[in-house]
Amino acid sequence: MARDVALLWWAMCGFFGLVLVAVSALWIYALHRRPRDFDAEQARRIQRRWLIGGGIVLPSLSIVLLLLFGIPVGQRMLPLPLIGEQPLRIEVIGHQWWWEVRYPDSGVVTANQLHLPAGRPVDLSVSSADVIHSFWVPRLGGKIDMIPGRHNTIRLQADEPGIFRGQCSEFCGTQHSNMILDVQAHAEEDFGAWLDARREPRIEALSGAAGETFASYCGSCHRVAGVSAGTRAPDLSDLGSRRNLGSGVLANAPGATLTWLREHQRLKPGSGMPLTDDVDAEQLQAIAAWLETLEP
Ligand code: CUA
Repeated sequence: MARDVALLWWAMCGFFGLVLVAVSALWIYALHRRPRDFDAEQARRIQRRWLIGGGIVLPSLSIVLLLLFGIPVGQRMLPLPLIGEQPLRIEVIGHQWWWEVRYPDSGVVTANQLHLPAGRPVDLSVSSADVIHSFWVPRLGGKIDMIPGRHNTIRLQADEPGIFRGQCSEFCGTQHSNMILDVQAHAEEDFGAWLDARREPRIEALSGAAGETFASYCGSCHRVAGVSAGTRAPDLSDLGSRRNLGSGVLANAPGATLTWLREHQRLKPGSGMPLTDDVDAEQLQAIAAWLETLEP
């Protein structure tokens, strides 16, 4: 789709470049032309010719040509039924300021990362839990608004495995620019393995006081498969395997989870996560260390 849109853009750019050159050439020619005398009838004829030819026929032809070129591109962007391989369905829900990603056919839920198979069409059904966001992965083309109470669908296909950056592209509040989506396209079998690993993860709950703190503080908003069931905040079941934290504000290096737990309001002011100043430092460390191990 991105290729089609780029092609359409270049065709428009080239075509209107030609129009610009032609109009400029005529204008320069008119400036340098020596005045000639015409009688009234001749002048009217010349005027009519330019008005009809240059003012009506030429623009109409240009627009029809571009439409002939553009309509099929628009058609291919619609999520119409396909013959043969059926597209994979993925649901993406926008939140202030993070992404919820669901694979409804396998029950897998993750956040702030979108994994998809390369070489296969994917239908992304997008929506929002609060305000209007917009789903945009420039290198995969297409862009679609995420509107509360509504499901919009966009069909995308990554031809090659790779990593792409997605970005919310509808202003949605103070951290709009930090609403980054890590998109990874895998070879078909690698994608299957990625999904299978998350289908029924066996996660051992954190024990002791830190475990209780997690359950009462974090678990009411965050889900960890088999441990806690919160739905207001990002699912953390595979947090250790993510490339970044806080929807793209921090690389997920060793120790980064603790930094995030302590300094999220400095790193991402306004984020919905409450301060953790009142949590015992050792418990916070234990929670961070445990979260880093959550890797299928
Ligand atoms: Cu979400 Cu901008």
